[in-house]
Amino acid sequence: LQNGLARLPPMGWMSWAKFLCETDCKKHPNTCISEDLYAKMGNRLVTDGYKDVGYEYIHIDDCWSKLQRNKEGRLEPDSTRFSKGIPWLVDFLHQRGIKLGIYGDVGPTTCAKYPGSLNHTTIDAETFASWGIDYLKFDGCFLNESGIPAEYKKMSDALIATGKKIVYGCEWPLYLQDHPETINYKDISSACNLWRNFHDIDVNWQSIINTIDWYNEHQDEIAEFHGPGAWNDPDMIVAGNPEITDDQARAQMTLWSIWSAPLIMSNDLRTVTPSAKAILQNRDVIAIDQDQIGDFGKMVFNWTDLYFYVKKVTPVVKVDDATEFSKAIAVLNRGTVNIKINMKLSLLDLKYDAGYSVRDLWAQKDLGLYGVNDELHLHIQPTGVVFLKATLVKKNRTFKWN
Ligand code: GLA
Repeated sequence: LQNGLARLPPMGWMSWAKFLCETDCKKHPNTCISEDLYAKMGNRLVTDGYKDVGYEYIHIDDCWSKLQRNKEGRLEPDSTRFSKGIPWLVDFLHQRGIKLGIYGDVGPTTCAKYPGSLNHTTIDAETFASWGIDYLKFDGCFLNESGIPAEYKKMSDALIATGKKIVYGCEWPLYLQDHPETINYKDISSACNLWRNFHDIDVNWQSIINTIDWYNEHQDEIAEFHGPGAWNDPDMIVAGNPEITDDQARAQMTLWSIWSAPLIMSNDLRTVTPSAKAILQNRDVIAIDQDQIGDFGKMVFNWTDLYFYVKKVTPVVKVDDATEFSKAIAVLNRGTVNIKINMKLSLLDLKYDAGYSVRDLWAQKDLGLYGVNDELHLHIQPTGVVFLKATLVKKNRTFKWN
């Protein structure tokens, strides 16, 4: 959606994968869906350094509202769990430089059976705008497939009509997955800033792998309409949870960065280990995700358990009419043993004859200059990755750098 927003993939924190729909604040005061949880996580983004590296949204997910609309037909937050009201939360976060996202559904109810926006599109968009909401995640439960495109467009128009800057996150293609021939990414990308294509991610490695498999298979179809203002969304970053090892955390961050995916964590920021925090905050990796080209990097081949990915990144060199790109390279080891290999850059289609300056992004170490026939020595842990940036070497001063 070209509304001037989400020019880079959004980064933030969302409650769903970790905290789901816990509404019993008596029994679970520290983990229930409440203003307290969102305020605390917003504070953590700031005090623990996440905001400094780019994480800027806090996202309310399902189960925040009352079970009924009020007399005027407006949504209201649950009055015990959000006793101060949403504008208070917006203010609290804005004062700290953090933006607030909220959650709704295109159907009659949300997935967890709270009121949905069907027949209330305009009033809901106006309510969110009047509260100062910065982002809407709009789910697709309980609506017939045939209604999905029109209702998603309706909310897109309604948000624009409020005149407020509200990022619009859709789940439009996900809810058409049983009839993929009805998925029109051109329409989706002109109505939404981002869109979920595949099932919800859960907090385990198999779920990360299932997501990676789906994107490997569909990469050509979905890459075309992906870029500034319009992003495919493979769902939340679950790194930072105790179920995910550091190798797996690096693997998830790497793949999501290869895809220029939104980096929206779902974890308990109060209990993230120092090593997982360093992974979530690795500036070299985040810079690949947030590279201004916004390329959807692809799997270029696989060999045994190793999967190789390449993404176009800056800086670029213009040679006559052609553009040479720097490249991010990822190698994922999906197996159960360490693998060591040597590989020429040219095998990954890196053919720029002046060569590349290669950096190991997880080790945050420069490996030196490589010609296209030089071999990289790679050592990849099981369920782990190697992630490199190969920056074009300046050949001579007639080339123009961006
Ligand atoms: C769907 C969405 C999830 C989450 C839940 C909430 O499953 O895909 O991301 O928002 O609904 O009920």
